Formats: sequence, structure tokens, C-alpha cells
Amino acid sequence: MPEKFYITTPLYYINATPHIGHSYTNIAADVLARFHRQLGEDVYFLTGTDEHGQKIAKSAQDAGESEKVFADKMASVYIELWKSLDISYDDFIRTSEERHTLAVKNVLNTLYKNKDIYLESYEGWYCVPCETFWTDLQVQGAGLCPECLRPVERLSEKNFFFKLSKYQGWLTEYIKKHRDFIKPVSRYNEVLSFLELNKLNDLCISRPRARLGWGIDIPFSREHVTYVWFDALINYISAVGFGYNEAKFKRYWPADLHLIGKDILRQHAIYWPIILRALDLEPPKMIFAHGWWMTGQDKISKSRGNVIDPLKLVKEYGIDVYRYFLLRDIPFGLDGNFSDQAIIKRKNSDLANDLGNLVHRTITMVEKYFAGILPQMRELKPSKLKDSNDNLIDEVRMAMERIDFTTALDKIWLVINQANKFIEETKPWNLLKEKRAGEMDSFILLLVEVVRNVSLSISNFMPSSAKMIQEQFSATVIKKGIPLFPRT
Ligand code: MSP
Repeated sequence: MPEKFYITTPLYYINATPHIGHSYTNIAADVLARFHRQLGEDVYFLTGTDEHGQKIAKSAQDAGESEKVFADKMASVYIELWKSLDISYDDFIRTSEERHTLAVKNVLNTLYKNKDIYLESYEGWYCVPCETFWTDLQVQGAGLCPECLRPVERLSEKNFFFKLSKYQGWLTEYIKKHRDFIKPVSRYNEVLSFLELNKLNDLCISRPRARLGWGIDIPFSREHVTYVWFDALINYISAVGFGYNEAKFKRYWPADLHLIGKDILRQHAIYWPIILRALDLEPPKMIFAHGWWMTGQDKISKSRGNVIDPLKLVKEYGIDVYRYFLLRDIPFGLDGNFSDQAIIKRKNSDLANDLGNLVHRTITMVEKYFAGILPQMRELKPSKLKDSNDNLIDEVRMAMERIDFTTALDKIWLVINQANKFIEETKPWNLLKEKRAGEMDSFILLLVEVVRNVSLSISNFMPSSAKMIQEQFSATVIKKGIPLFPRT
């Protein structure tokens, strides 16, 4: 049986339409999923939507719709977007589905039975958009949420709590022993020092039904529904059969990679492993938190009113250009600035100029000097380009295994640029004039080999462009197609 690779994205809140930041996580996950499929692994790529909670109930109300109708409509917006961006997910989970709600109830019952959940009165500051309680200290007299800077409300209620604190020592030790559990290393250090410097509070995992009805029922209380974050995290096990498909669950759990943005690190690296520990399940193998797309000093987000629509960019520049740009322009893990100029520059220089030219020149020469038919394969003449080309697949693989997209792409572009230089330096028309046919054959075969290798290496990033290149080169008589990346 092939090795499995279970990769997840966060479940997106459906209170607003998706923006560039959401598409970033899914494109990165898609590239990794495709890479692991290319290695022959049995990939399970999960994405979906996070549909409960107060802010979604409010959005539905504002739209004059029931939560259910609203959720159906918004989930399909995400499904459509992923289709437009060539996202090859294997499963799309909605937290309103039965397989999920049953799993959540199952988890709650187990934890309650084991006395890891208890009922208590609670008073604190609540931020509706973040669905989070804050202490006096965190709100610091300003009355603002420390995360999104919007006003908080004072709330006092009876709620269920999950004993996070009981497992703090275990989690700290676990993280210390597993250096690859949280990536990149800056995030690893952040979580570890947080755990070493702070005492964890138990997690409030319910909301009173009277205040918020739109959630999963708490099976042991008529008056409460489940807190949306507690509900949502469980998707990672409910999708792969927890509680209803033992064989599937055994096959895929633990997840190999939870890909998330750095703003939801605490929930994934602290709450989630502890919930799993309390259930006697293994933690995921790795959590990787990427950075933010910004405009100026601000994170791109609905609340800041600076969102950029991925579909608009795709229409303007093309799917593959958009996918390439997002993973090429900033090292994965760091923040970066979005601008139209930056995407246009990448398109014109890396794609139209470097890659587009290499493909175009190679194909033109096959047509012009060989009437579209490649010479018989023979030993290629040794050269620097041949060496680089021979190493390319391994170099890309090593970078991809580290989830380092920019380095993988850098390596590919080094070979592309080397090949373009090789054409200029070899001056094939001279080889032909001087009747050095053997060298000419070797020259063109090396270039074709480079183009094939490059198209294989970029295929995870730019699936349809890679396919177009491959089709052009696999015809019996090789012929030019339409230009891959017309300049903007
Ligand atoms: N519903 C929760 C996740 C639950 S997972 C069990 C949530 N949803 S979200 O829609 O607000 O965000 C989803 C993801 O999009 C997060 O990983 C977040 O970091 C990412 N992004 C949102 N804006 C972003 C940028 N401006 N830049 C990069 N990614 C950001 O949180």
C-alpha cells in the first residue's frame, strides 16, 4: 500500500466572501497535495467551511435568510472559487454536515464522561467577530478586542469548560521533544515560550442557547450549544471517519500536515493537541503557520475593508500566474505586501520572458531545424546545463519536503535561465552552418529534456500551463501552440 499523506486547510468562515488571504492557504495546500501525489502517495486533501457561531448567525440575519439557506449559498461560493483556482481537494467538509455534528457530540460525551469538561459561572469580555472571551488584563481598559481591535461586550454566563490547564505540562514536554511539530521555527518558539511563561486557562467550550442558537447541541445540556472553535477543530477527525469509519480513520489519522495562517496558531498548536490528548488520540504530525498578505501595514481582511478578490485577479492575469505569484513572491512563513505592480512584474519577467521564451525558442528550433521531429535519442554532451537539469527534480523535492516553495521555484528558474543563456551562447545557427549535426542533435535534445523537466517541476504550481507545454512536446510532430503567458 502506498504511503498516505493527509493534508488539511482551515475551514473558512462563511460570513463573508473569500479574499486573497483565504486563497493563499488553499493554493499552498493544493501545490503540496499535487507534489505528494506525484510521489505516488495516497493523498487526502481536506478543505471546507466553518458554518456555526454568532457572526454567521448575524450575517444570515442581515441577509434576511435562515442560517441554513445562507450557509448553503456561501459554501457554494467557496466550492466555486476552488474550482476556478484548480484546487484538487479530495474532500470538502461543512461543519453543518451530520458526519461532523455526530463526531462533535461523540467527542463532547467522551470528555464529559472522563471529567475533562465541567460547568461553571463565568464573567468576561467577549468579542463577537472573533468569538472569543478576553480577561480584564487583555482588554486593558480600552474596551477593545486585543486581536481585531473592535469593541468587546461584558458577559456573565454559566458555561462548560474544557480542562486545558490539566494538560499544559504534557503539551510543553511534547513540543520540546518534537522539534518539527510546529513550523516555521519562529512559530515553534512563539508557542513554546507562551506555554513556558503563561498558565493556561481552561477553555470555555459552550455558548448559552438563549444568546446563540446556531451551533451544535451540547448532548448533556439543553441550554447550551458548542463554541464554534471547539466544533470546528474536530473537522480534522470527523472528515476521515472518527466514530463512523474505523478503517478510514486508522488509515489517515494522524494528519501529516495542518496548514494554517499564523493568526490561528493558538487554537491549532495548543487547544487542538490537548483535545486529542484528552481523547487518547495522536496529535497531527506537523502544523505549519504561514504569514499574511498585507497592504501597507495592514493585514488584508474583511474587517479592515481592504480585501482583494481572487477571481478578479484570475480574470486579469490568469489562474497559473496568480498561483505562481502567491507562492513565489514571499517566502512561505513570512508576511508580504500585495500590489498589482508586483504580480505584473512576475508575470512579464519570470513567466513571459524567462519560461515563455525558453519554451517558445525551443519549439521554434525543433520546427525550424528538425521539421518538428526530434532526432533519435543519444548520449547527451556533458555540460553545466545538463548537470543542473539532472539535479533539478531532487533539488525541487528537497525544497518541497521542507515546504519551501520559493526555494523550489528559485531552483527551477535557475535552470530556465541557464537554458536561455545556453541557447544564446551555443548559437545553434552556427552549428548548422558549420555542419556539426551531432552537436546540433545533442543541443536540441538537451533543451527538450530541460523543458520536460521544468514542466514536470512546475506542474504542481501551474497545472494547466505545464499540461499545455507537455502536450506541445509530446505530439508526433512538434508544433507551436498559443503563447503561454501573453504580456500584461
Ligand atoms: N474558521 C476559522 C478556522 C477554523 S479551522 C478549524 C478561520 N477562518 S478564516 O476564514 O477567518 O480564516 C481562514 C484562514 O485564512 C486562516 O488560516 C487565515 O490565516 C487565512 N487568512 C485570512 N486572511 C489572511 C491574509 N491576509 N493573508 C494570509 N492568510 C490569511 O480562522
